[in-house]
Amino acid sequence: SLMRELKGIDVMEMELKHRLGIRNVIIVPGDSDLSPLAKKEMGRATVKGMRQLLAGKNIIAVTGGSTMAAVAEEMKPGIYNDELMFVPARGGIGEDVQNQANTICAIMAANTKSRHRVFYVPDQVSIEIYESFIKEPLVHEVLALIKSAGMVLHGIGDAITMAERRKAVPEDMRKIVEHDAVAEAFGYYFNEQGEIIHKVLTIGLQLDDLKEIPNVLAVAGGSSKAKAIRSYLKQAPPQTILITDEGAAKLLLKSG
Ligand code: F6P
Repeated sequence: SLMRELKGIDVMEMELKHRLGIRNVIIVPGDSDLSPLAKKEMGRATVKGMRQLLAGKNIIAVTGGSTMAAVAEEMKPGIYNDELMFVPARGGIGEDVQNQANTICAIMAANTKSRHRVFYVPDQVSIEIYESFIKEPLVHEVLALIKSAGMVLHGIGDAITMAERRKAVPEDMRKIVEHDAVAEAFGYYFNEQGEIIHKVLTIGLQLDDLKEIPNVLAVAGGSSKAKAIRSYLKQAPPQTILITDEGAAKLLLKSG
């Protein structure tokens, strides 16, 4: 559109895609730290991007968070001709209900008139719980679905913000601070170099599984997330498509 041309958004997208070394970058106007409209726009752009990528039956694994909730709000029936099934990428009990992957998958399914699965396992588990849970047939079944997903929709967060939101125990919080974590995604915490410095024991999609999934859409914006986005994308699989806003994109282009 004219607005995009005037703002040079297309140029920014190309430049960022090149710098980050990922499949594509989509930038929406605004800064979601300042305006809820920008988050809504990211939601819209994600739905549009999905439509271009989906073909045939698809299992779509989805993480939690307010950005994913905004994506769910923008989905409508009839925009996908395919048979879709939304599955939480990880156990998400512990976040606020509206930000849980279970809730978000249910809304995505209702809005697109498709199916979803619930995954009622905690976000963080002890090793004992982990070992007994993964033996459960129902958990097994959902894990198999996640691994066969054709698409992943996920958020990226600032490390400290996410550790606080998840009420990380003091020991983990110390680790996250001491190792200068700046980003969080899928329960993994990363430093500025994109190295994993901490990982929450979680049932569901692991970072290694992501490499095998053909379509990966990372949705994160707001100037406060620029550092987190840069860090996470240093090790993200190359098929990742970033959907972000101008607020984050401008900072991403400034340095690094
Ligand atoms: O907790 C799920 C999650 O996707 C995190 O991995 C991510 O850091 C966060 O939510 C993003 O949340 P928001 O979109 O609210 O910033």
